[in-house]
Amino acid sequence: MKVLALNSSARAGDVSKTEIMLDCLVEGMRDAGAEVEIINLAKKKIKYCIGCFTCWTKTPGKCVHKDDMTGEIYPKYLECDLCVLATPLYHFTVNAQMKTFIERTLPMVQPFFVERDGVTMHPLRHEMPPAVVISVAGFPEESVFDQLKSYMNFLYGDRLVAQIYRASCEMLKTPPSGDTMKDILEATVQGGRELVKTMKISPRTLARIKKPMTSFNKMAPVGNLAWQTCIDEGVTMGQFQKRGMVPRPNSIETYLAIMKMAFNRKKAGDARAVMQYRFTGQVEGDCYLKINKGKITAAPGSVKKPDLTIESPFEVWMDILTRRADGAQMLMEGRYKAAGNTELLMKMGDFFGES
Ligand SMILES: Cc1cc2nc3c(=O)[nH]c(=O)nc-3n(C[C@H](O)[C@H](O)[C@H](O)COP(=O)(O)O)c2cc1C
Repeated sequence: MKVLALNSSARAGDVSKTEIMLDCLVEGMRDAGAEVEIINLAKKKIKYCIGCFTCWTKTPGKCVHKDDMTGEIYPKYLECDLCVLATPLYHFTVNAQMKTFIERTLPMVQPFFVERDGVTMHPLRHEMPPAVVISVAGFPEESVFDQLKSYMNFLYGDRLVAQIYRASCEMLKTPPSGDTMKDILEATVQGGRELVKTMKISPRTLARIKKPMTSFNKMAPVGNLAWQTCIDEGVTMGQFQKRGMVPRPNSIETYLAIMKMAFNRKKAGDARAVMQYRFTGQVEGDCYLKINKGKITAAPGSVKKPDLTIESPFEVWMDILTRRADGAQMLMEGRYKAAGNTELLMKMGDFFGES
């Protein structure tokens, strides 16, 4: 089976969630014996359709443009046994690069009007290849893909053999990646294998690929903090991620949410520790973190017999968390107090962050 995979993301590498998902799908397809070529549309020269309809009249089936679409992509599209259309969701549909490609497939149809099931159509000059759409979106609800789904169904009809929609995709490969994310990526590989073997993806595999990773209530507080931190520090989200920056909490609730998110159960192993925080200053109140055999409890209030008690102005502790200040130096300068097993201060890195 010859597969043409068109990736329209403007981003590349681990920051491109389209690429992450597509690479998994392609891995599975190759594993099942398919010959797959990936083309990055953003790196190609594809001119806009100018609506001259020359491809319908003077040169039937042939576009006037001379670019990578006419020279390379269109012939490959006509020849392939299966085409994968991989696009990030932009404004609830395909992005501009993918739309430009789609518009440039106009030579596939003839100019005449025919009616099918009460709807006006143009007859096909060439059979469309079977297609798979794979798309990723930032929002957590699957309904974010409703418009794209409807568009793709209309465009490809029964030639659309599979639709893979991955919401809350910005969490993919965001450290520390959990088991859910690993399973989503493994299921996508499996989806690729199934497509080559059966020309479809089983409902079970699709359900694994689409498994909800988060909800608005879980995502928005931490996501908003991350964006606010980018604005305050004058960095892009890409720089924020590359530098391993931490969203700066602005309340006890968001501090606890960040600590829960950053907890790395693999690194923590079977360690046990109870940390009590007593905050003063900009944000006042108590909270604690309990680490116990790969699990974390993070809650407001106090706990009996903590291993370590930190008394700190909230802003000082947040400076340390976001690496604006050095924890050891702040302690020496008396900017915060630590009582109990102070060795735990050094061990924080064993519990949180990337492996
Ligand atoms: C211009 C633009 C429009 C976007 N529109 C949406 C949208 O309508 N819904 C959504 O959930 N995410 C939207 N996003 C988020 C992207 O779908 C998401 O960041 C995705 O990871 C991008 O794919 P990439 O990582 O391959 O670039 C948009 C992003 C950009 C840059």
